[in-house]
Amino acid sequence: MSLPPLAAYPALRLRRLRQAPWIRNLVRETVLTPSDLIWSMVVHEGEGEVQVPSMPGVARLSVSGAAQAAVEARRLGIPAIAIFPNIDGAKKDAQGSLAADPDGLICRAVKAMKDAAPEVGIMCDVALDPFTDHGHDGVIEGGKILNDATIERLVEQALAQAKAGCDILAPSDMMDGRVGVLRRALEAEGLQDAMIMSYAAKYASAFYGPYRDAIGSGKLGSGPVDNPADKKTYQMDPANTDEALREVALDIAEGADMVMVKPGLPYLDIVQRVAETFALPTFAFQVSGEYAMIKAATANGWLDEERAVLESLGAFKRAGAAGIITYFAPQAARLLGA
Ligand code: PBG
Repeated sequence: MSLPPLAAYPALRLRRLRQAPWIRNLVRETVLTPSDLIWSMVVHEGEGEVQVPSMPGVARLSVSGAAQAAVEARRLGIPAIAIFPNIDGAKKDAQGSLAADPDGLICRAVKAMKDAAPEVGIMCDVALDPFTDHGHDGVIEGGKILNDATIERLVEQALAQAKAGCDILAPSDMMDGRVGVLRRALEAEGLQDAMIMSYAAKYASAFYGPYRDAIGSGKLGSGPVDNPADKKTYQMDPANTDEALREVALDIAEGADMVMVKPGLPYLDIVQRVAETFALPTFAFQVSGEYAMIKAATANGWLDEERAVLESLGAFKRAGAAGIITYFAPQAARLLGA
């Protein structure tokens, strides 16, 4: 007696496991929760909030507003906040001198946020671009971004941030060797508990446009070298994937605790490769342009906002990300029931 084959249609029907919410919930492979989110937030010197034109729903917050937001993050179950400064144009110079100011905007915001909600982790960008009048992430000489001179400035900046109470230092500059120099400096200063999440695979991307609007570094330069939109001599070529693995391997060897891939959705293949190759927490940054795209499409009624937000964030989990840095964090946490 020969039995009919069972492991094929019509006996095999994958739709069986999709027929009702309870069974879909039971077999779901990855889950997004508020604890996967790092809230990306912009702070400014002034009082009150200032909306960012290209990022509807995102405002530059005052220091006290950021402290209140930290309390809100705790309530929503969001584990950490990444803060970025909008510095007054008059305070910027070619070297980004104020980047390491212990009384500067970022250090004051870190202190206020840690005072208000010590349970929430604070992450700071280690980079000069908010502080330079040309908008680049490094010191420029003879039309070139100087690697080693930039690292010296970055280390001063990161030490000031760590001393102010910053938990996670996130170098986003893409200079060679900066993670190792920073890790040694932290050890030497007795700051051995400061975590480093390196922007390890950061691409020279068009999707950072609204961020430069948010921090006010967008339209500063003019010529090709002075143009802050052109960071191609330090950020990675979007065409490359093996190079991302080399960058990540180096940052791990230099002492990074966690790594990041940036931008997010257009680079999910990189997120997956990095997460599969290296056994360490891999984060993805859903950047300003990704936020703006979803907002613009939903404002026009072309996409359902709630579904688009949660689907995009869930995709990072499916790719293997440990978490996502996103401007949608508070909205997503609320949609997830927080
Ligand atoms: C700069 C920095 C950028 C972002 C984070 N840190 C922009 C850039 O590299 O030009 C982008 C964040 C975003 O687009 O949301 N060091």
